[in-house]
Amino acid sequence: MGSPLHAPIFLVLCIFIQSSACGQGLGTEPFGRSYGATEARKSVQEAETRFLLFKNESDRLGCELRLQRPETLQECGFNTSQPLVMIIHGWSVDGLLENWIWKLVGALKSRPVNVGLVDWISLAYQHYSVAVRNTRVVGQDVAALLLWLEESVKFSLSDVHLIGYSLGAHVSGFAGSSMSGKHKIGRITGLDPAGPMFEGTSPSDRLSPDDANFVDAIHTFTREHMGLSVGIKQPIAHYDFYPNGGTFQPGCYFLDLYKHIAEHGLNAITQTIKCAHERSVHLFIDSLQHSNQQSIGFQCSDMDSFSQGLCLSCKKGRCNTLGYDTRMDWSGKSKKLFLITRAQAPFRVFHYQFKIQFINQTEKPVEPTFTMSLLGTKGDTKKIPITLGEGITSNKTYSLLITLDKDVGELVMIKFKWENRAVWANVWNTVQTIMPWGVTPHYSGLVLKTICVKAGETQQRMTFCPENVDDLQLHPTQEKVFVRCEVNSIRLKRKSR
Ligand SMILES: *[C@@H]1O[C@H](CO)[C@@H](O)[C@H](O)[C@H]1NC(C)=O
Ligand SMILES: *[C@@H]1O[C@H](CO)[C@@H](O)[C@H](O)[C@H]1NC(C)=O
Ligand SMILES: *[C@@H]1O[C@H](CO)[C@@H](O)[C@H](O)[C@H]1NC(C)=O
Ligand SMILES: *[C@@H]1O[C@H](CO)[C@@H](O)[C@H](O)[C@H]1NC(C)=O
Repeated sequence: MGSPLHAPIFLVLCIFIQSSACGQGLGTEPFGRSYGATEARKSVQEAETRFLLFKNESDRLGCELRLQRPETLQECGFNTSQPLVMIIHGWSVDGLLENWIWKLVGALKSRPVNVGLVDWISLAYQHYSVAVRNTRVVGQDVAALLLWLEESVKFSLSDVHLIGYSLGAHVSGFAGSSMSGKHKIGRITGLDPAGPMFEGTSPSDRLSPDDANFVDAIHTFTREHMGLSVGIKQPIAHYDFYPNGGTFQPGCYFLDLYKHIAEHGLNAITQTIKCAHERSVHLFIDSLQHSNQQSIGFQCSDMDSFSQGLCLSCKKGRCNTLGYDTRMDWSGKSKKLFLITRAQAPFRVFHYQFKIQFINQTEKPVEPTFTMSLLGTKGDTKKIPITLGEGITSNKTYSLLITLDKDVGELVMIKFKWENRAVWANVWNTVQTIMPWGVTPHYSGLVLKTICVKAGETQQRMTFCPENVDDLQLHPTQEKVFVRCEVNSIRLKRKSR
């Protein structure tokens, strides 16, 4: 509270929802035009939903499908033996289709599918609350198209995949719930489904798991301010992915906002919103473009537990692939899945849980700041800082999440170091004055018995033991080498022979 960031974020939300509560001026300036009711816009009569089909990955114009005009199916190259993926955009602040659409079209076209766009731009380029109202109408338009396809060319609804971004996610939901027949749409993907005016509403008023056979959602910008968040926070799908906790995304800096505003004017604010909100789209595109580097999400109750590495289990469908190739099982209720990502594509990281068992035999208060370097069969890492918060007061096992940007293969060695030189100097002096040289000092350090590691991506569990079993004590500035316990016990056996 009281942080200087507060004002811009409030402004951000004002722009997003263009709420009258934000005052007159705010909603108008960043875009250099007025949003007054009198502004000339396409009237509602003109406004319509258009359906475009794309022939190849560089096709930007698209070909318009028209209901009750079966010949347009052929003209647009609709292939009835391939599934249909329809992209549905969100609220528009400038009346233009956004660039990510073409990127997503291109990425989807790498798969054997019909790729289309629900163009409802004239209905989306409205005051936010009007655009929200329009989502229902557009959803019904989409439903009408799909029912016509089912009737005219026996196209199965289960072969339909709607991908809706922001408000488009709820359009998809309304399309699904408008299907009155016995068949459901195959899949709906919500990309950071919009929050304002949808959060906390009943399932029939937003995207929900009932709207398709399978519903997945990626939540990327649910940071809450003034009780509102741009993306919806609550789970609304069978699998709800929360990359980096879902609140905000790496590489989308709020901290730089003032500098950004100074350089780019208030437009910087829209860029900042777009960065985290649109990240959902880019994560999805990444799943198509780097299909050999898929990100996995892990079921967890909240980000706190996830950050302790407590949730890296894949048992009983607890983990799933994020994006296009997600596993479509929809048993049980909605699952919240968490993962860490990089700041740019390829977004995938490798998740590890480290469980470190300490026995604290020191008496002096020492700040426990450690680093760890990992060596694997395919590579190694730089020093990874480890801060355990409050001091190590008892025989405690600490659990933490460590993520690596690259694949180091199977872990073979851990170098664990107690940093903190300054404090050690004090302790060392004390020890020196009490203990004469040559005598083992009574002063004892920390004992690290074992380090247990679980790799989320491979589900492999490993236990590491000190390489030198004769010297278990860890003192400040010291580094200890840990190897796989199995390796150690083999060596010990050899030694004893
Ligand atoms: C893609 O489709 C467009 C529109 O039909 C066409 O003009 C263009 O030549 C096609 N490009 C490729 C690479 O096939
Ligand atoms: C339609 O899709 C099927 C299945 O992917 C494919 O074998 C066929 O070649 C496609 N037809 C055309 C005209 O592209
Ligand atoms: C070990 O325990 C002592 C006594 O409780 C405490 O003062 C010290 O800070 C602890 N050491 C670490 C590394 O946490
Ligand atoms: C910690 O564990 C060691 C060895 O297992 C034991 O001797 C010691 O009493 C324990 N200390 C505490 C505070 O539990």
